[in-house]
Amino acid sequence: MTDRIQSFEEYQQEYDLSIRKPEEFWADKAKKFTWHKEWDKVLEWNFQEPKVEWFKGAKLNIVENCLDRHLATRGDKRALIWEPNDPNGQAKTYTYKQLHKEVCRMANVLTNNGVQKGDRVCIYMPMIPELAFAVLACARVGAIHSVVFGGFSSNAIADRINDAGCSFVITSDGMYRGAKELSVKETVDEALESCSTVDKVLVVQYTHCKVKMEEGRDIWYHEALRSAGKESELQIMDAEDMLFILYTSGSTGKPKGVVHTCGGYMVYAEYTFRNVFQNKDSEVYWCTADIGWITGHSYILYGPLLAGATTVMFEGVPTWPDAGRFWQIVEKHKINIFYTAPTAIRALMTHNIDYVKKHDLSSLKVLGSVGEPINEEAWHWYRNNVGRKDLPIVDTWWQTETGGIMISPLAGLTPLKPSFATYPLPGVQPVLLDGDGNEIKENGVEGYLAIKFPWPGMIRTTYGDHERCRRTYFGVYKGYYFTGDGARRDEKGMYRVIGRVDDVINVSGHRFGTAEIENAIDEHPQVVESAVVGFPHEIKGQGIYAYVICAEGCEDEDKLRQEIHEEVIKQIGKVARPDKIQVVDDLPKTRSGKIMRRILRKVAEGETSSLGDTSTLLNPEVVESIIQGRRV
Ligand code: WT7
Repeated sequence: MTDRIQSFEEYQQEYDLSIRKPEEFWADKAKKFTWHKEWDKVLEWNFQEPKVEWFKGAKLNIVENCLDRHLATRGDKRALIWEPNDPNGQAKTYTYKQLHKEVCRMANVLTNNGVQKGDRVCIYMPMIPELAFAVLACARVGAIHSVVFGGFSSNAIADRINDAGCSFVITSDGMYRGAKELSVKETVDEALESCSTVDKVLVVQYTHCKVKMEEGRDIWYHEALRSAGKESELQIMDAEDMLFILYTSGSTGKPKGVVHTCGGYMVYAEYTFRNVFQNKDSEVYWCTADIGWITGHSYILYGPLLAGATTVMFEGVPTWPDAGRFWQIVEKHKINIFYTAPTAIRALMTHNIDYVKKHDLSSLKVLGSVGEPINEEAWHWYRNNVGRKDLPIVDTWWQTETGGIMISPLAGLTPLKPSFATYPLPGVQPVLLDGDGNEIKENGVEGYLAIKFPWPGMIRTTYGDHERCRRTYFGVYKGYYFTGDGARRDEKGMYRVIGRVDDVINVSGHRFGTAEIENAIDEHPQVVESAVVGFPHEIKGQGIYAYVICAEGCEDEDKLRQEIHEEVIKQIGKVARPDKIQVVDDLPKTRSGKIMRRILRKVAEGETSSLGDTSTLLNPEVVESIIQGRRV
């Protein structure tokens, strides 16, 4: 079965068709799936409200398409390979039949415990097979999953549970991460102290650490399994019913719940996976992301399983027990397609090259990159040392909101250019806008990256607040979905995504709003005001630089920094810890009282000679003292 695009010319033809006849194009891609009722209309849309509906009127279940649909033809093919944190631990393999069975059993546990179609289920778990079962079990019974990344704190979990009104939580007792054993259930217990909507908590026994089980609320998974039958019914969903919520940060306010729906997301995740990675039926594919992020949703679980691929899930970290762990796994499982983040590449680049060289990487055929711009140095290191100097690297640009890959080479077909995501996938119509929202038509230009036509995997709303969705994505430039990114288009029409143009920073591929981190810092009783900016960081891409004003001066700055770290860990999680904290007397402000972030960014970057005009500031004298106190 070769329904992949086979050449660059074919890509161009397919692209052309997708623009001329988008409805026909996507209807054709949707044909292969199991639908219980066909759509009345392929696409209805306007970007004003916004309202976007794909395959309206159609009925389906995405998990039936991930699993049941393959049973007859691929039942004994490996669906999921799980590699544990500890290299001496036992890897686990699930064929399509076995994965189907596990998902059905968990689906029955959910149903037996009252979970119904439309209920929101929060999943907070380490990267163990039960996490995959949980996500798919929710979708099977029509519950809306909201996976919260395991690195988030109890406060962050509580915010997300409350925003979505989750009635059910799935978690584990503990987890492993490198050499550490950590508690998980305890964090959930803390979160639930400030949540009133949760009735039940399903707990997977994994590390066997001691946990408190609350009578009437908490259920052990292994116990609940005893009364769960093997057969499970599928909940048949409307194409536009919600499939999941995934929280992501923006430039203002608290993280918002990005909503994806069943039909369009399914078609898009499968189509993009198959074509970008050029996965063949016998190949083994590994995406190193965490399922707590969109990359894990679309390209560990849904995309590969919909395509009938073999997907690998890894519990551990790239540098434990040593910096060769990724390459040892590639050798062990004979990985053909390897998809990771630039931050991981940059971290591994700093270690001895022998960690790469001592492993047999000859199985590799395709390399991928995602999450942030990949700098040329990392691109070349990746290609030369991992890719035998000739493997294709697919630099895939996309977002939580886009559901799937938007701009990327097709492996082996599209000409490559280091640090360029190259061309839009079929169905994707990117434009560059100038500051007034006019399309810049020529090539060899930079602008704000926007998309002018819907694609099936796109965001439908932000949970519980449609107006916020409109304002954030569709209200900035009328008639366009605005990405928040700036991009360059070269003479050949290839795109290079440069980075965010809003107050969002990308730390190791994790997205944070500066306001979100400022709010956490401001919780510290001594902090009067704070301002957070990003700065270039060798490994993380961007680091977090915080300026803080302290009440009545500050006696012990190191102590204050320590406490601010703790506050941020408590409010958001370790991943959002500032790299540098500078205590200042005042922040540069305009006459209308707005913080001049431009100046703070320059100082954090060390670009103090090009601050521009500071004379219009309300308090120009603070600039010099901020420069003097810069943290290096
Ligand atoms: C932001 C989205 C998409 C999955 C992971 C991140 C940046 C992502 C690239 C890339 C340059 C990239 C953008 C985007 N980004 N991939 N290949 N080249 N920048 O998802 O957390 O929603 O973040 O990540 O700035 O807006 P996310």
